[in-house]
Amino acid sequence: MNQEDDAPENAYTADPGSADDAEATRRDAGEAESSRASRGWWDRNADEYQSEHGAFLGDDRFVWGPEGLDEADAALLGPAASLKDKDVLEIGAGAAQCSRWLAAQGARPVALDLSHRQLQHALRIGDDIPLVEADAGNLPFRDGSFDLACSAYGAVPFVADPVNVMREVHRVLRPGGRWVFSVTHPVRWAFPDEPGPEGLTVSASYFDRTPYVEQDERGRAVYVEHHRTVGDRVRDVVAGGFRLLDLVEPEWPEWNGQEWGGWSPLRGNLIPGTAIFVCERA
Ligand SMILES: C[S@@+](CC[C@H](N)C(=O)[O-])C[C@H]1O[C@@H](n2cnc3c(N)ncnc32)[C@H](O)[C@@H]1O
Repeated sequence: MNQEDDAPENAYTADPGSADDAEATRRDAGEAESSRASRGWWDRNADEYQSEHGAFLGDDRFVWGPEGLDEADAALLGPAASLKDKDVLEIGAGAAQCSRWLAAQGARPVALDLSHRQLQHALRIGDDIPLVEADAGNLPFRDGSFDLACSAYGAVPFVADPVNVMREVHRVLRPGGRWVFSVTHPVRWAFPDEPGPEGLTVSASYFDRTPYVEQDERGRAVYVEHHRTVGDRVRDVVAGGFRLLDLVEPEWPEWNGQEWGGWSPLRGNLIPGTAIFVCERA
């Protein structure tokens, strides 16, 4: 993957690399272009993503991000015992590892993802979870279909209109339902996405919302990541009809020695890498 000095590299996602000749830049990218780019990128890179990170993610573990915060310990969706018989929508589910953990708690998860290839990996692991291939911005479910919704780095960082996703999640949730999602911590946007010391010096404005785009030789986006500040994300959640209950910034645990793209013990001990928004449907 190419990277320009002034462009924060796409983070949780990028290390598998995209089209060899892709050029990294910062420019606007609308909803349709972002969605098309995400589907293509994840279809092309799903194999590498799963082979590189599958062991850490585990087949039936619910990990919120590279720090390794586990839902079994964090209980951000509620105590594990309360998940029994709950209808749960996982958005941007990838190979549905989180859904498989939810099913083990007695919940009824549905795993949704835009990428056909990611969902094929879900099938490779097991055919126990209902899978839906769809865009988070247009959820193919009736109003009030779910008790809970969750997303570990799925969809939200990649969409041009996150408020639309919030509204869609609000629509398909029942009143009082929780919506918990993790994204790259917004402060990371200001730093180069490097795991070493070079990733500790501010190189771009935290306030510059211009999307990070990799484009092919004809200028078509092949990867897009959208930046929102912390305040933007709070406003998005509220505009979508949610109350924000908590904003969790997992600290880097001593046991975790892995590097994942720009995430590393070095940086993780100094600056946050993941932000988890715990919301409740008003
Ligand atoms: C970083 S992966 C996370 C996958 C999984 N949650 C995990 O922790 O491994 C991001 C996922 O979001 C999916 N995604 C990206 N944009 C999406 C969209 N607009 N709608 C639904 N899924 C999307 C991608 O296909 C990919 O599987």
